[in-house]
Amino acid sequence: MSVSTITPWVVGNWKMNPVQADALKLISDFKKLLERAPIAEEKCILGVAPISIALLQTQAELKTAGRAVHTVAQDLSRISATGAYTGEVSAELLADYGIQYVLVGHSERREIFAENAAILNAKIQNALNAGLTVIYCVGESLEQREAGQAEAVVLQQVCDIAAVVAAEQWQNIVIAYEPIWAIGTGKTASPDDAQTMHAQIRQGLKQITGYAETMAILYGGSVKPENAVELAACPDINGALVGGASLNAESFHQIAQAFANTQ
Ligand code: PGA
Repeated sequence: MSVSTITPWVVGNWKMNPVQADALKLISDFKKLLERAPIAEEKCILGVAPISIALLQTQAELKTAGRAVHTVAQDLSRISATGAYTGEVSAELLADYGIQYVLVGHSERREIFAENAAILNAKIQNALNAGLTVIYCVGESLEQREAGQAEAVVLQQVCDIAAVVAAEQWQNIVIAYEPIWAIGTGKTASPDDAQTMHAQIRQGLKQITGYAETMAILYGGSVKPENAVELAACPDINGALVGGASLNAESFHQIAQAFANTQ
């Protein structure tokens, strides 16, 4: 199967935003835009990742979006099942509450919350075993890029999870390449640089899974309507993980349209 047949994903990562009233308005505005300018499900898979306390309300609000818009958890526990783990939410509990998607390995979790490969692997294993789909984030820092290590760092992050992903479970993984220097900075990797890295990631995936040709590899880092069309035109960029611009319904809708239009 050719890579261009992969249905693109556009996922909004709301991070630790917004307050409840703004979140409800954002969802309502987005639903109105989808009504006015529908985006077919087969052309673009959509998701939003709110703060954990808002997961169920977001999911309930999105039920009337006229199409599937998935609710994505931003994190999960490295501990599975249930038990005396104050403050934690396990993969099984997310699944039990109807949440089927989760981000793992975002650079903010890696850097600010010191999540290393062992912790991320535990989270991925728990998520996959509970039947969740994982959006696994990878990306290099500016220092690593300037030292010529970007590719090695990113491929290592991809390989890190191979030990815990069973052969069939690769179908339930989406990769998000997010160069750390492009996140929230207004700087985007050029479409050429992003495409080059995405192609390398796919080559790397081919060494470890038979699903490499069908896996979506999203780009993240200051994606906005102004650069979405160019990014979407790259053959190995199968969607976007959008931070800042996903907090504006119109911008998010335009980015989704840019990717849907490639289909
Ligand atoms: P940004 O964030 O679009 O605001 O750069 C992307 C992300 O961190 O997922």
